Amino acid sequence: MKNIWLDCDPGHDDAMAILIAAFHPSINLLGISTVAGNQSVEKTTANARAILSVVGKGNIPVFRGQGAALLSPMPFCAEIHGESGLDGPDGNPLFPLQAPPEMEQPWLPAMKEAILQTARETGEAVWLVCTGSLTNAALLLTMHPEICQHIKISLMGGAMGIGNTGPVAEFNIENDPEAAHIVFESGVDLSMVPLEVTHTVLADEEVLDRIGTHSPFRKKITDLLLFFSETYKRVFGFDHPPLHDPLAVYFVLNPEAFSCREMRVDIERSSVLSLGQTVCDYYGRSSGKANCRVALKVEFAAFWDEMLDCLERAEPHYVG
Ligand code: BDR
Ligand code: CA
Repeated sequence: MKNIWLDCDPGHDDAMAILIAAFHPSINLLGISTVAGNQSVEKTTANARAILSVVGKGNIPVFRGQGAALLSPMPFCAEIHGESGLDGPDGNPLFPLQAPPEMEQPWLPAMKEAILQTARETGEAVWLVCTGSLTNAALLLTMHPEICQHIKISLMGGAMGIGNTGPVAEFNIENDPEAAHIVFESGVDLSMVPLEVTHTVLADEEVLDRIGTHSPFRKKITDLLLFFSETYKRVFGFDHPPLHDPLAVYFVLNPEAFSCREMRVDIERSSVLSLGQTVCDYYGRSSGKANCRVALKVEFAAFWDEMLDCLERAEPHYVG
């Protein structure tokens, strides 16, 4: 059993990461913290609660994390994920939004306690899976450096070459480069699933056929996957939309499905041209020590099998 804490900014693909983490029989999802990114942190938190509640997983605790980057405000991504951050094709939220609790519990002590208690009980590291900017993870590691020994991080973010928000920068890292720098310098066991990998995991006709639209839940998932297909076609020239975030969860489940390379990765924090670039030293040309396991390739057919199995498990619980 893998014990996971998910830190995310839902977001369409973050919602799929929540579904695989909540419904995989080999995952114990301890809790979710949210961060601003695809939308404001109020909206990403509401979206995390909405997706869990429509599939009968409202018992999984969701904590509202940081609403801005460490040193700056954070630009949101309404042009990709819509006004709610999880819009459907009609421009309304895909899932009914819940009223937030009267009092939000502070995320940092809750996350720290859950991780340390589980690590103590199991004698194993807890996986922190990050699918948004690394702001919460950086604060956790800064405020509680001892936690470094008790976690492994799998993150979706960065690129070895071509970026998606800048020529060489990827959204999650560019949103908070200082936080990313703290995480990459922390010495934590770190694995990164970059754009080069997630751009090979496409919701193509075969995948969409397998999901189908023959139940309200399946129709919602199809709408979710197709939501940004137009944007991906127009801006990036993709025939089919990629799915990013669940790959960071899948890395925890099945690392053998990934080809990886250990290397030095530095975060560009000052250049105007390449702010937020994950500078990957593939050939070990710098004097810096390797600090990250970078995924280079994934067997995506095996991923889709697992993802679709989790959707099948979620389906009977759906109340739409
Ligand atoms: C990342 O950016 C976000 O919009 C997605 O949710 C994903 O985490 C891809 O660059
Ligand atoms: Ca995300």
